[in-house]
Amino acid sequence: MEHLLSALRAVAEATRLRLLVLCAHGELTVSELTQILGQSQPRVSRHLKLLCEAGLLDRFREGSWVFYRLSQSGPVGALARQLVAACDEADPTIALDLRRLAAIKRRRAELASAYFSENAAQWHRIRSLYVDERVVEAALVDIVAAADPRDLLDIGTGTGRMIELLAPRVERALGIDQSREMLAVARVNLERVGLENGVVWLGDMYRLALPDASFDGVVIHQVLHYADRPAAAIAEAARVLRPHGILVLVDFAPHRLEYLRAEHAHRRLGFADAEIAEWCRAAGLVPAPPRHLPGDPLTVVIWTARGPAAIAGPRANAGAPAAATIPVEAELRQ
Ligand SMILES: C[S@@+](CC[C@H](N)C(=O)[O-])C[C@H]1O[C@@H](n2cnc3c(N)ncnc32)[C@H](O)[C@@H]1O
Repeated sequence: MEHLLSALRAVAEATRLRLLVLCAHGELTVSELTQILGQSQPRVSRHLKLLCEAGLLDRFREGSWVFYRLSQSGPVGALARQLVAACDEADPTIALDLRRLAAIKRRRAELASAYFSENAAQWHRIRSLYVDERVVEAALVDIVAAADPRDLLDIGTGTGRMIELLAPRVERALGIDQSREMLAVARVNLERVGLENGVVWLGDMYRLALPDASFDGVVIHQVLHYADRPAAAIAEAARVLRPHGILVLVDFAPHRLEYLRAEHAHRRLGFADAEIAEWCRAAGLVPAPPRHLPGDPLTVVIWTARGPAAIAGPRANAGAPAAATIPVEAELRQ
């Protein structure tokens, strides 16, 4: 009982309640929170410290950045979520905070999108600076071949490389990306290789315009480190995965290359295995042991997670016509 009482004492102050609500909307840095609240950084840091000590917020450091997010676990985490749910987003103070947060996120998205636009044409070269793509791609092909999905969704498809690689293994493949420039390059690439079962559409990974349980396989390759809400992106991917399906996440192991933030718009410097597994479980998936592909200087990790039915037994709808489950074009357009 004592930990709940101290959590309630910690949150019984206007700024701290506002911080709790803000951190429920994404992983935020102290400087972002300072901008939103319009208070001095030492003051905001002191409030954050109290909320973390009470177990209401999680704090994690990545290089020179420190992020805060709503606590994910235990009774105090549940209390934090209930308190946030009880706050009225129409309250003038909270509404203003959320509008400022939205403006910060828009600026962030504009920066990332400007970066992607500038780099669309040379993306393959940028990727190859970090790791030998052939090793990663061979491992991915093995994983997808073993899972044998009928259809595949590639979230954050970029230049469509994953579609190019994996579409020959499935009946239909769909790539989604928020950048028109990236999609323009992807379309040229897919046409060049003559793929007839792969298409790419504009879309946002946090709000996929796709029905629930509509794909056997979902891939998110080198996208999560740009995400300000990676757990939400995984939850959205899990939503569109069929119960027997496989989610494949590819990104970096935790690293210290700060310049990737400054020069390449990365938000997160890699992910820990435990963190990814927790997000997958929270999304109702069953994580499998990850595969590490050490590189210099970055290690790529392939995390997979299965829908619960894949663990429980064989594919429930094996033999059903695939075309019936492919979303129609109208559903995909935003
Ligand atoms: C590093 S590229 C990776 C592209 C591709 N998966 C690959 O590995 O070749 C990251 C891609 O994620 C896309 N992206 C970032 N945020 C997104 C979002 N919210 N919704 C959809 N796509 C997003 C970017 O536009 C960019 O094309």
